[in-house]
Amino acid sequence: MKILVTGGSGLLGGKICEIATEENHQVYSGYCHNVPQFGNPFKLDLTQNNFDIISQIKPDVIIHTAALTNVDKCESDKGLAYKINFEGTKGLAKIARQLNSFFIYISTDYVFSGEKGMYVEEDRPNPINYYGYTKLLGEDYCDCVVRTCVIYGARPATGKINFALWLINKLKEKEEVRVVMDQYITPTLNTNLAEMILEIAERRLFGKFHLAGATRISTYNFALEIANKFKLDKDLIIPIKMDELKRIAKRPRDSSLDTSKASKILKKRPYRLDEALEILKKELIK
Ligand SMILES: NC(=O)c1ccc[n+]([C@@H]2O[C@H](COP(=O)([O-])OP(=O)(O)OC[C@H]3O[C@@H](n4cnc5c(N)ncnc54)[C@H](OP(=O)(O)O)[C@@H]3O)[C@@H](O)[C@H]2O)c1
Repeated sequence: MKILVTGGSGLLGGKICEIATEENHQVYSGYCHNVPQFGNPFKLDLTQNNFDIISQIKPDVIIHTAALTNVDKCESDKGLAYKINFEGTKGLAKIARQLNSFFIYISTDYVFSGEKGMYVEEDRPNPINYYGYTKLLGEDYCDCVVRTCVIYGARPATGKINFALWLINKLKEKEEVRVVMDQYITPTLNTNLAEMILEIAERRLFGKFHLAGATRISTYNFALEIANKFKLDKDLIIPIKMDELKRIAKRPRDSSLDTSKASKILKKRPYRLDEALEILKKELIK
């Protein structure tokens, strides 16, 4: 396939480009500031509303991972969040329709309020912050919507840190870290997510999919599991309450995703946390 990935320099997009290249697909990796490591890089700034380059590439599939992912930045600069996350997605969807490219959009657990947890695809979204709101608006324009939750993984192309790598680095340096104990998530290994998304691309599966890790856990217990797996000092992890963190944007208390639909339909399945951490460990020592 000729696959175009937006956000090719990101934690997820970079991994999709890496795996798709290994699988001998023809890969085009879009970026804004940081040149991607994998695929044929091309510049695409979603604030510019100019998609000529995509018309030239004529991809079979567009996997749209690019977004303004800084949740607090989205709250403090709503105009930019709207432009990138909503208008950018709508513009891409339009060009995808014109080119008859299959359009996969990566959305988020933050479309939900977090009051219920273990959300299924049919649950009613009700975002409590502007990031979630802008991501939800984009969902209406896509062939396939993939919602995921707290992505982590080895070697992000941009060097942008993610929770697991941040924690490992801090604990290795014997620094204390404060981690919330009253927020529940289904953490997702980028490699596992990328493989499931590529299967969706190959099979052209329409509709909504919750693709996340198969284990619901508090962020604090997630940190303990990581410390355990990497034999690091758990006593350095201090549990705190969400309210103690003075953040600009509200966060859902339980945005865990139910991945039963994906487990039934896909050949690649969402990994349990213990399986995913084993893979991460192998990837980090490669
Ligand atoms: N990370 C999570 O925990 C999480 C959870 C749920 C859902 N998601 C969703 O999953 C997707 C991937 O997340 P991620 O963590 O992999 O993202 P990320 O590492 O923060 O990367 C974001 C990507 O978006 C690109 N980008 C930012 N602004 C852009 C613009 N104006 N024009 C074009 N590209 C732009 C960046 O390009 P440059 O690096 O070149 O600037 C980068 O490649 C996102 O859609 C996000 O909403 C993420």
